[in-house]
Amino acid sequence: MPEPLASPRPLLVTGATGRVGRLVVDELLAAGAPVRALTRRPEAANLPSCVEVATGDLTVPQTLDTALTGVRAVFLVWTAPAAAAPAVIERMAARTGRVVLLSSPHRTPHPFFQQPNRLADLHAHIEKLVADSGARSTIIRPGMFASNTGMWWSAMIKDGDVVRWPYANAETAPIDERDIAAVAARSLLDDVHVGGDYVLTGPERLTRADQVRIIAETLGRQIEFEELSPDDFRRHTAGVWPPAAVEMLLAAWGASIGQPALVTSKVSDILDTPARTFKQWAADHTAAFTRPHG
Ligand SMILES: NC(=O)c1ccc[n+]([C@@H]2O[C@H](COP(=O)([O-])OP(=O)(O)OC[C@H]3O[C@@H](n4cnc5c(N)ncnc54)[C@H](OP(=O)(O)O)[C@@H]3O)[C@@H](O)[C@H]2O)c1
Repeated sequence: MPEPLASPRPLLVTGATGRVGRLVVDELLAAGAPVRALTRRPEAANLPSCVEVATGDLTVPQTLDTALTGVRAVFLVWTAPAAAAPAVIERMAARTGRVVLLSSPHRTPHPFFQQPNRLADLHAHIEKLVADSGARSTIIRPGMFASNTGMWWSAMIKDGDVVRWPYANAETAPIDERDIAAVAARSLLDDVHVGGDYVLTGPERLTRADQVRIIAETLGRQIEFEELSPDDFRRHTAGVWPPAAVEMLLAAWGASIGQPALVTSKVSDILDTPARTFKQWAADHTAAFTRPHG
């Protein structure tokens, strides 16, 4: 049952300055819920003024004690090394007993999700700690974020008309982070989602080339996709991206060639509204691909 929104107990959002957490904060505020946001750097957090900002570091468990006091549930984004996770999750379970965890679809038997991946190992480890802690949990497993395209291609599209990238025909079903956040907020607010384990994707299968075409159409520009070989991509990212991350992505993309991307209906099942399309995401994020005066 949803706890009455007038309840004074806040929801603690970790990763609140990140891509998903910031949107979870917005969703909770829109639902009228009190929000406490965790950050290591409150002076740089730039969160709405009605949010209670708490300072804490996931790698130093005792710094979380104040943030965890009196909270009703925690949205947990674990981007830190694993070492402190047992002590942190034990504290969360003891103080709130309710955790909504952002993870990934590493259990899904699709080649894209079954390549060697250090992050998948970390997610599996955190999930086990949450399960063993006895906390009432919900696991949210989004596939590729739509906003990854901004991180990957923003500079190339701002500065030119060609996206140089490997595996033009590798498919994903990119998910709009607003949908991830909406599912997370719904899970935090309504105990009907206790025990839920949700693989979330966008509504449509799109190749890399399709995604570039959609961004180009949205911007009203011609943008070419020039396919790089995996070795060209390694050279292209050398000194900029960690080699382990490059190999992880190349393995996942390579394995997905010729495989239809996984598409689930979980977002629309849970929210009762269709998942946002990549076209919608691109239309709402043109600034990511446009020079301020360009
Ligand atoms: N990108 C994808 O396609 C994808 C797909 C599925 C799952 N995921 C998962 O999504 C998660 C990342 O989410 P995101 O993109 O929203 O995060 P993000 O934008 O990378 O932001 C990271 C957040 O973590 C906080 N943080 C980092 N280290 C911390 C620490 N030691 N103590 C406290 N807070 C810390 C940061 O807060 P401060 O700096 O303010 O302290 C920041 O709010 C990862 O687990 C990733 O594996 C990503």
